Amino acid sequence: MILLTNIASLVTVDASGGFCKTGPAMRDIGEIKNAAILFEHTIRWIGSMEEWNSTAFREWVDVDGGEAVTEEIDCTGMTVMPGFVDSHTHIAFAGSRSHEFARRLSGVPYSRIAAEGGGILTTMKAVRESSLDEIVEIGATLVSSAVEHGTTTFEIKSGYGLSAESELKLLEAIKLIGDETPADVHATFLGAHDVPPEYRSSPDQYIDLIVSDMLPKVREQGIATACDVFTDIGFFTVEQSETVLHAAQKLGLEVRVHADEIANIGASQMAARLGALSADHLEHSSIEDMVAMREKGVVATLLPGTAYTLRLPYPNARTMIDKGLIVALATDCNPGSCFTENMQTILSLACINMGMSIEEAITASTLHGAHALRIGSQTGSLEVGKHADLVIYDVESYTDIIYHFGTNHVYTVFIRGEEV
Ligand code: NIG
Ligand code: FE
Repeated sequence: MILLTNIASLVTVDASGGFCKTGPAMRDIGEIKNAAILFEHTIRWIGSMEEWNSTAFREWVDVDGGEAVTEEIDCTGMTVMPGFVDSHTHIAFAGSRSHEFARRLSGVPYSRIAAEGGGILTTMKAVRESSLDEIVEIGATLVSSAVEHGTTTFEIKSGYGLSAESELKLLEAIKLIGDETPADVHATFLGAHDVPPEYRSSPDQYIDLIVSDMLPKVREQGIATACDVFTDIGFFTVEQSETVLHAAQKLGLEVRVHADEIANIGASQMAARLGALSADHLEHSSIEDMVAMREKGVVATLLPGTAYTLRLPYPNARTMIDKGLIVALATDCNPGSCFTENMQTILSLACINMGMSIEEAITASTLHGAHALRIGSQTGSLEVGKHADLVIYDVESYTDIIYHFGTNHVYTVFIRGEEV
């Protein structure tokens, strides 16, 4: 068992066994000052140093008896928080889009580059030309960098293959990336990310291919737990998206949606109608959309790094939180619209540009990320019985992680109680 003592600030995000904290409760991050935490694979005990030093507690955890503490870390002057749950990434890809990034800086819109056959299709070409090993290497490198920045759980989407063979190659790569990292990795099938060149003149035939060929293979191989669709102008209509997502649900997959990013064509309403786990992006969502998502418990996953990179209006996080939505934060890490794997940066963007408080950003990036993946009973907060997925930061207070931005404050990371 490992014991962390003298922790200046222990942020638990305690939800008392629940999976989300909405409205004003999002700001209640359960901080304990001068704290201790004891764990092996799971968390055994959490409390103040005063409680820890009382003999009663020491006996209760039987530390002086059989189960000795194997390692003790003095966390004087340091902060401990749950690991980040990055519930929306596209970390499985190949190639670079730095030339398109430079064009966008000179004013060419993302949608024009996409309409010209660039954007997602640029990455698709690179993926189709790359070997499985090459894709795994890129993804594993990004995942390990993300872990060094405090992320302990990932969702990774396919979506840059856009043929049965290449989508399955990406999902296989995601599985192998998961095998290489101690972090927890959850795969999502995103065959409907864009229409591949072969089907440009008949996109409905591509939808047929997804439904009749790709989805059954994904299900048969058991390599994804959810299905996502990019429902937006220039990509897939609500009708096409609904066809794919219904088929996925029939096969027992959970669903999520890229919604209201470039324009509002009714994607988040559709997510609510289908009972999706999450609707992600939401730069253009209306109040009615927010209410619909709240009523169905759809997690509103905000990706401020994408709004920053694409210079989109930021999602209206303030209204969403005040209306009681389950707001989560994620990187969207991908080679096109947001190339960062660093969740500390995402929290800074959320606080500075979306009016979130530091406490709300912490809840959104831990507990609510876990709920978006429906693993809130295992991780996302520091509570007795949950996985010991936790991060020690070399700062006196959690506020310093946002206040002193642009640098990595991580001292060390534990995933299921193992130091990585
Ligand atoms: O989440 N919006 C759709 N998909 C990605 C972008 C992918 C890309 O540009 O490569 C996103 O932003
Ligand atoms: Fe995305």
